[in-house]
Amino acid sequence: MITSKLPNVGTTIFTTMSQLAAETGALNLSQGFPDFNGPQALLDAVGKHVANGHNQYSPMTGLPALRQQVAAKIARSYGATVSPDSEVTITPGATAAIFCAIQAVIRNGDEVIVFDPSYDSYEPSVELAGGRCVHVQLSLEGFALDFEKLKAALSPRTRMIILNTPHNPTGALISGAELDQLAELIRDRDIYLVSDEVYEHLVFDGVAHASVLAHEELYQRAFVVSSFGKTYHVTGWKTGYVVAPSALTAELRKVHQYVNFCGVTPLQYALADFMAEHPQHVEALPAFYQAKRDLFCDLLAPSRFSFTRVAGTYFQLVDYSQIRPDLDDVAMSLWMTREHGVATIPVSVFYQSPPQGQRLVRLCFAKREETLQQAAEKLCVI
Ligand SMILES: Cc1ncc(COP(=O)(O)O)c(C=O)c1O
Repeated sequence: MITSKLPNVGTTIFTTMSQLAAETGALNLSQGFPDFNGPQALLDAVGKHVANGHNQYSPMTGLPALRQQVAAKIARSYGATVSPDSEVTITPGATAAIFCAIQAVIRNGDEVIVFDPSYDSYEPSVELAGGRCVHVQLSLEGFALDFEKLKAALSPRTRMIILNTPHNPTGALISGAELDQLAELIRDRDIYLVSDEVYEHLVFDGVAHASVLAHEELYQRAFVVSSFGKTYHVTGWKTGYVVAPSALTAELRKVHQYVNFCGVTPLQYALADFMAEHPQHVEALPAFYQAKRDLFCDLLAPSRFSFTRVAGTYFQLVDYSQIRPDLDDVAMSLWMTREHGVATIPVSVFYQSPPQGQRLVRLCFAKREETLQQAAEKLCVI
């Protein structure tokens, strides 16, 4: 008999819903990935580098040219200076970056604070490191950090806090003022941060993303994680990066070296070329995704779902209390997929203890206009 190290982990809802969407032919607005391609110049660059023989291991820390582009993007976006050599590490996806950061600093018995609803990769990574997640709920209205609850959750064993801004699944943002408040709260404590900022460039309505990279005090204890997959519409490339002060980076690299050693070489070459030649891609992203959010929300306006337009990410939460209050959100997602042809993600799966009576599902709007139109037609007749 095997005694599982992760007894609470089963097939994720993302796999289940994507499979069900494929089986039933439903439009898949569940898992978070675009149904359109990345920029042609980026795709062409991969072919060029594969043909040119860039097919062997790259340096463990990541291709220097790509690390330099990441540092340059950080300087442009946040006015922060980071060393491409000692502070930037390329990883096979943000997931691997988060895993390595947690393994690098969490020990047996340590506590890690996560904010519910929270992304599903954090807890298993903490448990594999011998730690324990302490779940703190975001506010029910607006999904903001609740500093009273956070204060109450801190203990002498707290070793890490995991932030996620812009936030999956709610689209909420953490403000610069909230980062200041957090800095004050943990100033005298030995606590690391993982700041999961994979949606850093998907922030709407003219608001600027408050990155931990731009927060001098918090950055000193932080691993800041991002994903080329989200920024360049290529989630299947599973290529990301983590930025951390040199001492933390050195520890992270000890783990990364034996988890992956390095990222995929031709993809790193292609990303480095594309970032050098198209720095404006990132600047255009807020408007690109805001147009999708607004189209989708305008189309959903006549529906019986209620919602507030999200501030960031490519997910829109919708409340279905006026439609099927009798169904919990897992049942609602299955029903919508099977009976109405639109696959969604129930929000309760992101909670340790889902709030009673919450009736929310998450819809991904990283989709072509036709897909959003077809989905909205279906959603408007439910
Ligand atoms: C909040 C969050 N973090 C991390 C990831 C993983 O990113 P990657 O595909 O680069 O591993 C995702 C992907 O959906 C995400 O939503």
